[in-house]
Amino acid sequence: MDVRTALKQGMARLRDANVPSFTLAAELLLLHVLGRDRTWLYAHPEEPVAIADAEKFSVLLSRRAAGEPTQHLTGTQEFWGLGFEVTPDVLIPRPETEHLIEVALDRLALREIHAGRKQTLTGEGLLIADIGTGSGCIAIALAKELPGSRIVATDISPAALAVAQRNAVQHDVANRIHFIEANLLANLENASVVAQLAAPVSHNQASADPNFAGHTAPGLFDLIVSNPPYIGHREKDTLMREVRDHEPQLALYGGDEGYELYAPLIVQAAKSLKPGGLLILELGHNSLSAVQPLLDAPRWTKVSVTNDLAGIPRVIAAERT
Ligand SMILES: C[S@@+](CC[C@H](N)C(=O)[O-])C[C@H]1O[C@@H](n2cnc3c(N)ncnc32)[C@H](O)[C@@H]1O
Repeated sequence: MDVRTALKQGMARLRDANVPSFTLAAELLLLHVLGRDRTWLYAHPEEPVAIADAEKFSVLLSRRAAGEPTQHLTGTQEFWGLGFEVTPDVLIPRPETEHLIEVALDRLALREIHAGRKQTLTGEGLLIADIGTGSGCIAIALAKELPGSRIVATDISPAALAVAQRNAVQHDVANRIHFIEANLLANLENASVVAQLAAPVSHNQASADPNFAGHTAPGLFDLIVSNPPYIGHREKDTLMREVRDHEPQLALYGGDEGYELYAPLIVQAAKSLKPGGLLILELGHNSLSAVQPLLDAPRWTKVSVTNDLAGIPRVIAAERT
């Protein structure tokens, strides 16, 4: 069998199984098996496919037809132009989350302009927190964009943190991202690495005074970003089987309604941000009306909402007064 025939048969099998985006899925699975890129695929339609490869492709097609996400079969997903390892322990990075990165970079740049500083934004001296880091996609994209910044990335799932750590190594930013198992921002200030990051010059003081980390708690971070779980348990039956049956429950559900984690996250962020620090959150399709009232005066100012390409309010940003 040649490449063209294998691809056509693969597409037909996935189409018959009602797989969404079946053309792309068949292509990605064949490319994965052959270890080739898309340009090669279309430049070599007559190339024979080895029997062993055809068998591997067939197994992957069956698994995809049964509902496993393509990314779990290939082990990768692109985000912000970077390749990320994904496993069933982490949420597959979504394209709409790239809006959160865009908003973060825009708001940081605006802050520089308002402060009359030069606009070459390297993030020098910035301390950033990414809450619920999953694959690490947000923390790693920001680390790449802001080479002078240091980042604390938390997750409640140790299995997710292990994947994020590997992605950070892969992208050569592991020395600037500190992964911590935590429930949102709770007790983060007591993590010794955070205390050191917050006050690197006071290292001796920190080790001499056991309460020192506690004193640094208010106003640790310049920027807090999060894409928290925001689907409601009540919405479970509306999810695609790829999501409902294969992505981590911890990454999907925020509670019965979905928006339950925003309130504690915003309260904790208000304590952990420096004055003038930024909070930037991804929103679920129906979260805005529950979340916006939580970002009110006198604690918060300059609230902005950004829609995604489908016109859904997707990112909310606010500045700590
Ligand atoms: C929607 S996923 C986002 C993952 C990644 N940041 C992204 O944008 O692709 C939410 C993540 O938050 C984590 N999480 C859930 N509840 C948490 C909590 N209470 N504290 C910290 N992390 C939590 C989940 O394990 C999951 O990795």
